[in-house]
Amino acid sequence: MKPINVGLLGIGTVGGGTFTVLKRNEEEITRRAGRPIRITAVADKNLELAKSIVGSGVRLTDDAFSIVTDPEIDIVVELIGGYGVAKELVLKAIENGKHVVTANKALLAVHGNEIFAAAQKKGVMVAFEAAVAGGIPIIKALREGLSANRIQWLAGIINGTTNFILSEMRDKGLPFADVLKEAQRLGYAEADPTFDIEGVDAAHKATLMASIAFGVPIQFDKAYVEGITKLDAADIKYAEQLGYRIKLLGIARRRPQGIELRVHPTLIPAKRLIANVEGAMNAVLVQGDAVGATLYYGKGAGAEPTASAVIADLVDVTRLHTSDPEHRVPHLAFQPDQITDVPM
Ligand code: HSE
Repeated sequence: MKPINVGLLGIGTVGGGTFTVLKRNEEEITRRAGRPIRITAVADKNLELAKSIVGSGVRLTDDAFSIVTDPEIDIVVELIGGYGVAKELVLKAIENGKHVVTANKALLAVHGNEIFAAAQKKGVMVAFEAAVAGGIPIIKALREGLSANRIQWLAGIINGTTNFILSEMRDKGLPFADVLKEAQRLGYAEADPTFDIEGVDAAHKATLMASIAFGVPIQFDKAYVEGITKLDAADIKYAEQLGYRIKLLGIARRRPQGIELRVHPTLIPAKRLIANVEGAMNAVLVQGDAVGATLYYGKGAGAEPTASAVIADLVDVTRLHTSDPEHRVPHLAFQPDQITDVPM
C-alpha cells in the first residue's frame, strides 16, 4: 500500500506524542486509514531535539517552508502555534495543495474564515480536532455524530489550566499564583498563560465549536471573555458552602436574535456531573433537539491525548480526502479483506 506522506511543523510535546502513538498503534491506524501514514519530514528550530525524537529515515530541517512546498508531502501537520509564521505556513501549504491538520485554536479562531476559504478554493481539507478539548473528539461529535440535530446550546470546561487552578485552590487551599506555576510545570498552560487565565484560550475553542454547531462564520471578536483572575479563595469557599462549584465555562447558545458566545466563571450546583470535572480534565455538554443532552469528557491537553486527535484527523484526511480511490476506506474501522483475527 502506498503510504501517505506527512510533514510535521514543530516537534514539541504533541509532535513527540504523535510519533509515539503512530508507531505504537501502526497496525490499527493503517487499517482505519486504508494505507500507512508516515511522517517523512519534520521542521523545528531545535534540530537536536527533533533528532532525538524522530530517529532515522525522516528528513529534518529548520526551514518549515521547504516542507509546505515539498511535492512529496500530502498532509502538513502544524504544531507551531500562534498567529504569525503558523498562518503563513498554513496558507502556503494550502496554496501548494496540501491538506492541513492543526492543533492551533488561536490561529483558527482569529484567521479561520480566511484559512477555510483558501482551503475550499483549493479543494483541500483543514482538520482541527486537536485544537479543541485535546483528546475529546468533540469536533467530530458536533460535525458528524450530532449532524441530525439542531443544536440548542453547548457548554464546556475547555481549558485544563484554569480547571486545574480552580480545583487545586478549592481542594488544597493553595494560592492562585502557586497553582498556576504548577500548571506551567505540568505543561498544561499555553506559552503565554495569560491566554489561559484570562479565558482567551477557552474563547478560541468555544468560537470554533459554535461555528460548527450553528453553521456560522468564526467570530471570536464577538465573544464575551472573562477569565479567573478576579476570583480568590473566598469566592471558591463561599460557593462551596452554598452547594456550588465555580467552573470556567465556554458557552454557545442559539438565541432568537443570534448566537450568544461567552466565557466566564460560572456557579454550578455541586451535584451536576460537569461540576465534578476536576484537575486538567475537560468536559463538554451539548444539547441537541433530537438527542437531548450529551456529555463528552476526557483529557484536554498533554502529549498523547492531543496526539490522539491529531492522528484521528490524519486518518480522516487519508481515508476521505486523498485523491487515490484505490485506498479510500468506505466506512471507518475496516476493509473487509483486512480483518485480522483478534480473539474476542
Ligand atoms: N492551555 C490549554 C489548556 C492546552 O490548559 O487547556 C490545551 O489546549
